[in-house]
Amino acid sequence: MAASDSVIPLGAGPRDLRGRALRDLRISVMDRCNFRCPYCMPRETFHDKYRFLGSHERLSFDEIVRLARLFVRLGVRKLRLTGGEPLLRPNLTDLIGDLTAIEGIEDIALTTNGALLAKYAFELRAAGLQRITVSLDSLDPGVFTRLSGGFGALEDVLSGIEQARRAGLGPIKVNTVIQRGVNDHTAIELVDRFRGTGVIVRFIEYMDVGNRNHWRPDLVVPSKELMTRISARWPLTPLERAYHGEVAERYSFTDGRGEVGFISSVTQPFCGDCTRARLSSDGVLYTCLFATHGTHLRDKLRGGASDDDLLRVMRETWLRRADNYSEQRQAHLAAEGERKVEMFYIGG
Ligand code: GTP
Ligand code: 5AD
Ligand code: SF4
Ligand code: SF4
Repeated sequence: MAASDSVIPLGAGPRDLRGRALRDLRISVMDRCNFRCPYCMPRETFHDKYRFLGSHERLSFDEIVRLARLFVRLGVRKLRLTGGEPLLRPNLTDLIGDLTAIEGIEDIALTTNGALLAKYAFELRAAGLQRITVSLDSLDPGVFTRLSGGFGALEDVLSGIEQARRAGLGPIKVNTVIQRGVNDHTAIELVDRFRGTGVIVRFIEYMDVGNRNHWRPDLVVPSKELMTRISARWPLTPLERAYHGEVAERYSFTDGRGEVGFISSVTQPFCGDCTRARLSSDGVLYTCLFATHGTHLRDKLRGGASDDDLLRVMRETWLRRADNYSEQRQAHLAAEGERKVEMFYIGG
């Protein structure tokens, strides 16, 4: 994964209308999930008869790799594989092997709910995956069951994290979405469990992603509030951002037992530094997590478009990007009839 002449210098790619470069590509490889988290895929909607994408509708691995190579030519250095649940995609390790071989890619991570991680951790590492992020909202079995829609088993996720650690996938991050009155009372337990283990817990403010999660502002627990609670028990020291555009604000435990992060897209939006693009599993390019429209690349790919044709479309999409949803949340919430892309389809 060394850089070469074909990899453009840092910052030399297209800038969007707010001057932001394209650095990160989040690729959803699977719209299905084996959980039914109420805030993402509520069971009422995503039942047995729900029509997910057929395998021919999803981008093939060759198509994903081709696009990833082109994205590198626009400045992308970091890839994150997401879902739905990416580990449901058959032969995912083949894709990882191909993506790690792309010149210019410096970092590849994967976000999973952890249910199948124990099974795949070693295979993923062997294929070249460097690190992993596990979504885990609570260690309380009752709360966990409710938040996974009754489908997940907490022990599976915990053994998945353990296997990932043994396989050398690191650093392991745990992403926890906090909702007031739902799981905020279990946040301290999560910190307690992972402090000193090398696993980094990051708390995410509950966001109004998609159109189905019945989001309300009073369900958001501001990171500041959570941080005050945590630091009352374990004093914290702020850490510098690890890289430009990092979404988490990081703090180290003053006693040296690791760090904790806060992702505060509601109370402290970070759109100003947003260098992320998202590719859905059926090949639509979105430039914001809250987008209402995307650029369809699959039909172009399958219609015989050349690399230059595709690059032109991708570049133009980035050049006309002005997204800053989280900075304009109030105005968007007031606007009736906006249909945003769904989280399970775009991968968070
Ligand atoms: P690292 O590379 O490990 O630092 O993580 P990351 O920046 O890729 O973060 P990750 O993919 O773990 O994102 C964590 C969560 O932050 C996501 O699931 C989203 O909930 C939120 N998030 C990430 N990127 C964005 C973004 O561009 N906008 C908003 N509003 N939220 C984001
Ligand atoms: N707000 C914040 N984070 C969310 N996620 C899913 N829905 C939301 C939401 N409404 C998180 C998941 C997972 C990642 C893919 O996105 O919990 O960690
Ligand atoms: Fe699945 Fe993740 Fe959505 Fe939960 S949040 S339903 S684990 S994609
Ligand atoms: Fe980027 Fe959109 Fe998130 Fe703002 S709301 S940080 S523009 S993805």
